[in-house]
Amino acid sequence: MTILSILKFPDPRLHTVAKPVAVVDERVRTIVRDMAQTMYEANGVGLAATQVDIHERIVVVDASEARTSYQVFINPEIIAQSMEKKEWEEGCLSVPEVYDIVARPDRIRVRALNEHGEAFELDCDELLAVCLQHEIDHLNGKVFVQHLSSLKQNRIKTKLKKQQAQS
Ligand code: NI
Repeated sequence: MTILSILKFPDPRLHTVAKPVAVVDERVRTIVRDMAQTMYEANGVGLAATQVDIHERIVVVDASEARTSYQVFINPEIIAQSMEKKEWEEGCLSVPEVYDIVARPDRIRVRALNEHGEAFELDCDELLAVCLQHEIDHLNGKVFVQHLSSLKQNRIKTKLKKQQAQS
C-alpha cells in the first residue's frame, strides 16, 4: 500500500471535476486501498480521489468511532435529501487547520458501487451524511470553504499560502 500525497487548497487541481469509474477492477481497488491508508494516516474521516490528484469518482469514508472499517463509494450520487438542513463544523485534509460551519441537508440517500462493482443504496445521517456530501463536492471540484463567504475564503487562502510557504 502507498500513502498518497494530499493536494492542499488553493491548488487549482482541487477544482477538477472527476470522471465516473467505468469498470471496478483491480486498478480501482488498489486506488481504494491506497486512499484508505492515506485517510487513516492523516486522521481523516473521509477522502475523495480528487484530493490525491486522481480525477475519478471514488470516495472512502470511516465515520465509525473505532475507525477500523471504511466504506467505499464509487460513482456516488445523492438520490434524495431532506428539506431540513443542519449546521456542522467541517474540516478538510486539503485545508489544514481550518474549521468552519456549513449547513447541508440533514439526511441523504446515496447510490453508489462498492469495491466489487456492486450497486447499493444507503440512507445517511449525522457525520456520515455530512462527510459524504463534503466528499461528493470534492468529486465535483468543490472544496468546503467555497460554501463560506468570499471574505472568509480569501482569508483562508492567505493563511494557507503562508503555511505552504513556510513548510
Ligand atoms: Ni475534504
